[in-house]
Amino acid sequence: MKPWNNDQDCYVSDHPLIAEKLTTLRDKNTSSERFRAELEIVSRFLFFEASRSLQTRSHTFETPLETMDGQQLERTVLLVPILRAGLAMSNAIRQACPASVGMLGMYRDHDTLQPVEYYCNLPENASDMDVFLLDPMLATGGSAIAAIDALKDKGVKNLTMIALIGAPEGLQKIRTVYPNLPIYLAAMDRQLNDIGYILPGLGDAGDRYFGTE
Ligand code: PRP
Ligand code: URA
Repeated sequence: MKPWNNDQDCYVSDHPLIAEKLTTLRDKNTSSERFRAELEIVSRFLFFEASRSLQTRSHTFETPLETMDGQQLERTVLLVPILRAGLAMSNAIRQACPASVGMLGMYRDHDTLQPVEYYCNLPENASDMDVFLLDPMLATGGSAIAAIDALKDKGVKNLTMIALIGAPEGLQKIRTVYPNLPIYLAAMDRQLNDIGYILPGLGDAGDRYFGTE
């Protein structure tokens, strides 16, 4: 992962396999089945990178041959997908990491592009957890900021955002409110179009993942 321009808290993948998988995800001829599979693999890869600094504690246990000291995660990991599309990422990541899952339901109003919250289910003790906010697309940044606000209101301190594709406009907007929030991306694209879609992007992530185009 490499920092994005001069932003030392936004990391963008430079891994060749991720570049190859993103190409498949972006291709409009990719089937819904293949889209699902590739999105899940890229999500797990990004989570491995974003979780690098999780703290562990020593755990003594028995192998079949002797006693040894292993490691356990210090705090509970909480995945918070922004519905709908973020759900694809949390399901994939949970196969690789024991984690609790909170949920934030938001959609973008098509005319105003403002996020509309319709559901919030976060554990009471979220503030004690290592929290990962998940959404494949960081476009205008409106949904991300509303979600981060909701998590900060809950007292969350250890927060990282993971998205597949970002737009410079969205990152800039987040930085006006949360200058140092760690953000991990598979790619930073060129720009938004006039209806808030990322260019070149991959289209509507939720529709493509759930087959509702
Ligand atoms: C998409 C995406 C983000 C949001 C990003 O969700 O998954 O949540 O748009 O846009 P923003 O950065 O401009 O806020 P969408 O509204 O399409 O809902 P869906 O996941 O239910 O399809
Ligand atoms: N949401 C999407 O799913 N795609 C975009 O390009 C922008 C927002």
